[in-house]
Amino acid sequence: MTTRDENELLTRTGPGTPMGGLLRQYWVPALLPEELPEPDGPPIRLQLLGEQLVAFRDSHGRIGLLDKHCAHRGASLFFGRNAEGGLRCVYHGWKYDVAGRCVDMPNEPEPLTGDEDSPAAQAEATRAAGAPRPFKEGIQLKAYPVCEWGGIVWTYMGPARPPPALPALEWTLVPDAHRYVAKRVQECNYLQALEGGVDLSHIAFLHRTLDPGRDREDQKLTRRDVRPTFEVVETDCGLMIAARRHADAGRSYWRISQFIMPWYTMFPPLIDEGAGGHAWVPIDDERCWAFSITWDPDKPPSVVGEGIYGELIPGTYRPRANRDNDYLVDRAAQRTVSFTGIPGFAAQDCAVQESMGAIVDRSRERLGPSDLPILALRRRLRAAANAFLAGGEVPGLDPRSQHVRPAAVVLPREIPVAVGAKDALSADPGTSR
Ligand code: FES
Ligand SMILES: [Fe+2]
Repeated sequence: MTTRDENELLTRTGPGTPMGGLLRQYWVPALLPEELPEPDGPPIRLQLLGEQLVAFRDSHGRIGLLDKHCAHRGASLFFGRNAEGGLRCVYHGWKYDVAGRCVDMPNEPEPLTGDEDSPAAQAEATRAAGAPRPFKEGIQLKAYPVCEWGGIVWTYMGPARPPPALPALEWTLVPDAHRYVAKRVQECNYLQALEGGVDLSHIAFLHRTLDPGRDREDQKLTRRDVRPTFEVVETDCGLMIAARRHADAGRSYWRISQFIMPWYTMFPPLIDEGAGGHAWVPIDDERCWAFSITWDPDKPPSVVGEGIYGELIPGTYRPRANRDNDYLVDRAAQRTVSFTGIPGFAAQDCAVQESMGAIVDRSRERLGPSDLPILALRRRLRAAANAFLAGGEVPGLDPRSQHVRPAAVVLPREIPVAVGAKDALSADPGTSR
C-alpha cells in the first residue's frame, strides 16, 4: 500500500521537491524538432516539471530554452521578437541569446566607457559606481542546455556541468527513418500514465476488441489467458517486467516490458509493428507529455501515425478524443466492436488514467497480485529519490545500461524468462530484433 506521504513524494516534481530533484538529474524530452522548424521562427511556450519556459530557434539554428519571464520586469518572452541571434522582449527591448545572456538593453543609458573627462561625466561616473543599476553583463536569465538527438529536442534542467551523457535508449540510436516519434498532452500526473505503461494486465480488458475472428497471433495468446502472473527484475537502468500467460502444449507466452529511469517505458512488440515506447514527462503535477516512439532497428516501422497514436486537434498536441467529449465513447461500439467503445489505444489509456483524477489518491487503492509491477515501479522511483536526497548515486544515467528492448516470446514452461528471453531483451547497438 502506498501512503499519502509516499504519494506526495512520488507525484510532486516542481523545483525543490525530492522527486523534482531526482528527475532533473536526467535529460528531459522537451519538444519535437517540428515545433521549432526554422531559424528566427516564432518562439513557443513550454512547461516542464512545473517550470514555465520559452523555446526559440535563433538565426544560427541553435535552440534556446529560457525562463518564460523577462529578467527586467517579467513580461512573457513568448511575445518576443526572434531575430539576429536572440530573442528580444517586446516590453522594453531587452534581448537574450540562447544561453540566456542579456546581449542588448536598448532602453537604458549607454554604459560608461571610463574615458569621460568632463566634471559632469566624472560626477555621473561616481554616482553610477555607487548606485546599483541594471547592467546587461550582469543579467543572466535562467537557460537550460538543449540538444537535438534521436528525433527529440532534449534539455537538461539539473545542476551538473557538464550535463550527463545523452540517453542511449535503442530508439535514439536507430537511423532516423527507422523511428517515428509523436507527442500528446495527457491531463493527469505523470505517474498515472507511467504506471499504465508497466501495467501488463489491462491489455486484455481496456484494449480488447470484441471480434476474436480478427485477432492477430499475439492477441489470441493474450485473450486465451487474461490472468497473467508477473516476474519483475531490477535492471541497472530500471525494471524488466514480464507477464506470463499459459499458451498451448506446455508453453508460456511472455510479454516483457522495460522501465528505464526515470520515465521511459517500452512495451512488447506487436507482430511486425516494430517496438513501441513512451516517455512520460511532467508538464506540471497535473499534466504530462506522452511522447510515443515506434522503432525498428532493422527497417522503417510498418505501422505508425494516427492509427496508433490518435488524432490531435490541429495546431495543438491535445487529442481530439479528450475528456471534454468523453473520449468520443460510442456506446453502440462498446456492445459490438470493443471493450470500451473508445476509438484507439491512446484514447483508451487516456480515458481511464485521466478519469482517476489529476493525482489519484493511492492510499485508497486495493492492489492485488496483478499490480506487482506497479508496486515495483513505485519502489524503484522512491528508492532513487531517497538515495538522491541522501547524496547517493542516480541510477540509469549510464548509457550502456539502457541497451534493453521489450520482447514477446513463447517459451517451454520450465524455462525461466530471464534465460529464455535473454537475447531478445538485449539491444546492444547493431543487434537486430
Ligand atoms: S519586461 Fe522585458 S524588457 Fe522590460
Ligand atoms: Fe494501455
